[in-house]
Amino acid sequence: SITLWDISIISPSLSLCLPAAQPISSKLHEGWWAYKDVVQGSFVPVPSFWGLVNSAWNLCAMGKRQSPIDIETSHMIFDPHLTPLRLNTGGRRMGGTMYNTGKHVSLRPDKAHLVNISGGPLGYSYRLEEVRLHFGSEDAQGSEHLLNGQGFPGEVQLIHYNQDLYANYSEAAKSPHGIAVVSIFIKLSENSNAFLNRMLNRDTITRINYKHDAFLLMGLNIADLYPDTTRYITYEGSITIPPCYETSTWILINKPVYVTQMQMHSLRLLSQNEPYKIFLSMSDNTRPTQPLLQRCIRTNINFSKQGRDCPNNRALQIDRWIDG
Ligand SMILES: *[C@@H]1O[C@H](CO)[C@@H](O)[C@H](O)[C@H]1NC(C)=O
Ligand SMILES: *[C@@H]1O[C@H](CO)[C@@H](O)[C@H](O)[C@H]1NC(C)=O
Ligand SMILES: *[C@@H]1O[C@H](CO)[C@@H](O)[C@H](O)[C@H]1NC(C)=O
Repeated sequence: SITLWDISIISPSLSLCLPAAQPISSKLHEGWWAYKDVVQGSFVPVPSFWGLVNSAWNLCAMGKRQSPIDIETSHMIFDPHLTPLRLNTGGRRMGGTMYNTGKHVSLRPDKAHLVNISGGPLGYSYRLEEVRLHFGSEDAQGSEHLLNGQGFPGEVQLIHYNQDLYANYSEAAKSPHGIAVVSIFIKLSENSNAFLNRMLNRDTITRINYKHDAFLLMGLNIADLYPDTTRYITYEGSITIPPCYETSTWILINKPVYVTQMQMHSLRLLSQNEPYKIFLSMSDNTRPTQPLLQRCIRTNINFSKQGRDCPNNRALQIDRWIDG
């Protein structure tokens, strides 16, 4: 019988036959997944295999409420009961550590500075755990969510956990109403968003060129990251990396943030690997979109065309797509 480590000699398509009765410790293999095929080296499961290689990740293959999705604006339902999202920083700036995790650029606020969100579609208060960047190797791709089939150069995800019900992120991630992700599309422009500029200016971003590099930032104002709008789109989905738990409320802000072409270029120069290994660009760190199935996409954007019926929600009016 083969062990999982022997897969490196089998082509990925054959590994579909992996015996499900060979569960592997999720602890040991927590990071054993990838977005793209690795040219050299051993087999690492890409998105279509995440749900097949580890029984703890079944939802990645079998889930019915997976993320990301393609937002088809014609399917959106206007819900006038959706209030604006509330951001609470306590009026203070925060410090945080920026990491190259090998898969994402990740900024984790230090524990002394609590930032939380509530309101909107959320029934609880959610504490900011991580700001994560996804981006593409080309300008036409890089966001995880799509809008009417179109990708954006990148997507910022502000990942929060339910601090009313759960002690920490790991507990919340696998529990009902555990996670709230605010998602903001990234577009290119001459000027960049003030918050992203702190992360992506050359002096800073080049400190995390390689996997496990970390760099401390101080005096950040998370409010600077939010575009100037109260409009958003929301749906119930999953976290977009294994184990794909279906515990996330997604809130997609109806305006993008901007970075410069130079900053996007710097992101593409980040390596997934340690400095002594081959350079492998981190770009295209996106999971493909997943089927919407029975879910509703709600919005507080007031369209005036008739919407279809939505379980849990009244059907309402739809009119025009307002974008900034
Ligand atoms: C939300 O954040 C503010 C500012 O840091 C803090 O004062 C407040 O207690 C937090 N709310 C909860 C429910 O923890
Ligand atoms: C998270 O909270 C749970 C429950 O209180 C605890 O058992 C676990 O050790 C905590 N995990 C971390 C990473 O702090
Ligand atoms: C939505 O827009 C329509 C048309 O402009 C307007 O008549 C209606 O009052 C609006 N509804 C809400 C809840 O704002």
